[in-house]
Amino acid sequence: MDNFRFLCATEVIFGKDSENQVGTYTKQYANRVLLHYGGGSIKRTGLYDRVMKSLKEADIEVFELGGVQPNPRLGLVKEGIELCRREEIEFILAVGGGSVIDSAKAIALGVCYDGDVWDFFSGKALPEETLGVGVVLTLPAAGSETSISTVITNEDGWYKRGLNHELNRPLFAIMNPELTYTLPPEQTANGVADMMAHIMERYFTTTKDVDLTDRLCEATLKTIIRNARIVKDNPQDYAARAELMLAGSLAHNGLLSVGRVGDWSSHQIEHELSAIYDVAHGAGLAVIYPAWMKYVYKNDLPRFAQFAHRVWNVELNLENLEETALEGIRQLELFFKEIGLPTTLTELGIDDQRLEEMANKCKMTNGDSLGVVMKLTPKDVLNIYKLAL
Ligand code: NZQ
Ligand code: ZN
Repeated sequence: MDNFRFLCATEVIFGKDSENQVGTYTKQYANRVLLHYGGGSIKRTGLYDRVMKSLKEADIEVFELGGVQPNPRLGLVKEGIELCRREEIEFILAVGGGSVIDSAKAIALGVCYDGDVWDFFSGKALPEETLGVGVVLTLPAAGSETSISTVITNEDGWYKRGLNHELNRPLFAIMNPELTYTLPPEQTANGVADMMAHIMERYFTTTKDVDLTDRLCEATLKTIIRNARIVKDNPQDYAARAELMLAGSLAHNGLLSVGRVGDWSSHQIEHELSAIYDVAHGAGLAVIYPAWMKYVYKNDLPRFAQFAHRVWNVELNLENLEETALEGIRQLELFFKEIGLPTTLTELGIDDQRLEEMANKCKMTNGDSLGVVMKLTPKDVLNIYKLAL
């Protein structure tokens, strides 16, 4: 186990009707607030009205900026920064899924910075201050409600880039599982793929002696698999929705990766799909993750066999670990199909035209390579895209 420091300071308010407390929680931080949201789902579901009522009751002055698109864009972030400066807004309240929260985080950083907010995403500058963000979560998936990340797409060149920084951790996250009843089945499934990827990208590590976090990862994965199946048949099962919502946060708040390095290759490889083809992040991961596994599993057969055995109950064949490892990958793909996810680029409507461009654009997080289980070069990334076709 590696040395580590861990602090997850987001206050989580979890459960039925919790969104009605949003005024009280927001008031702790500000009197003038930007309400940031997406394309309109919160108005259709009535959540917008409840949030507004609670904010008004707390005597908070509310400014609004809706229209966040999935794979949130830099253009709207800049609009938000200007609005906040003009109206002297003190705090951002994000009501929605990962895209809304990430856009809010970027606005909150940008308001406090004199330069171009993209500097943080291109690695040119490090943030030093934020306005602060609070969250009402409507989609368990990205884990942004308690994570240190924000991921933004720059329309100029279609670069999708993430920024990890402690300042990004929201100050509070209100999570009512009932708010997720209205999710279309494909969004629920996309979320499941994303949270599973967040756990698996921590699980497949080169760090030794990480037994407890291995087991925490396996337990969280098994909980997600079980409850995703329940929700598929009964979208209004509160208990199952609650398990998924909690799992989405635990998958990405950092607890499951304390003391171990992760391998985030699949996320980087997927970001190119989302940037160029605007595919949903989770759907892209359902395609890329199994392809990455097939490409690298021989580098750590025992770990891939352990994953198959402990997560998917595959019988452990000690004479032939490769057989066990491959069966685990097959089980993951079958599960993705079962809950309605794509597992090939073709199903996403992507052909081989721009694979090379994406491979060359893909961020090499180690400088000249990507990942730890296998250090991938752009050529390996291209091979993984081809495997995913
Ligand atoms: O825009 P509206 O109308 O609100 O509709 C949204 C959107 O179309 C809809 N939706 C959300 N909650 C709903 C609902 N529809 C009905 N009922 C509800 N309760 O769902 C659609 C997708 O929303 P989005 O926020 O884009 O999805 P998600 O939460 O999966 O976020 C994806 C984004 O998060 C980034 C991804 O790259 C992607 O851009 N990520 C952020 C991370 C982080 N900050 O820590 C980590 C992740 O790895 C991920 O990269
Ligand atoms: Zn993700």
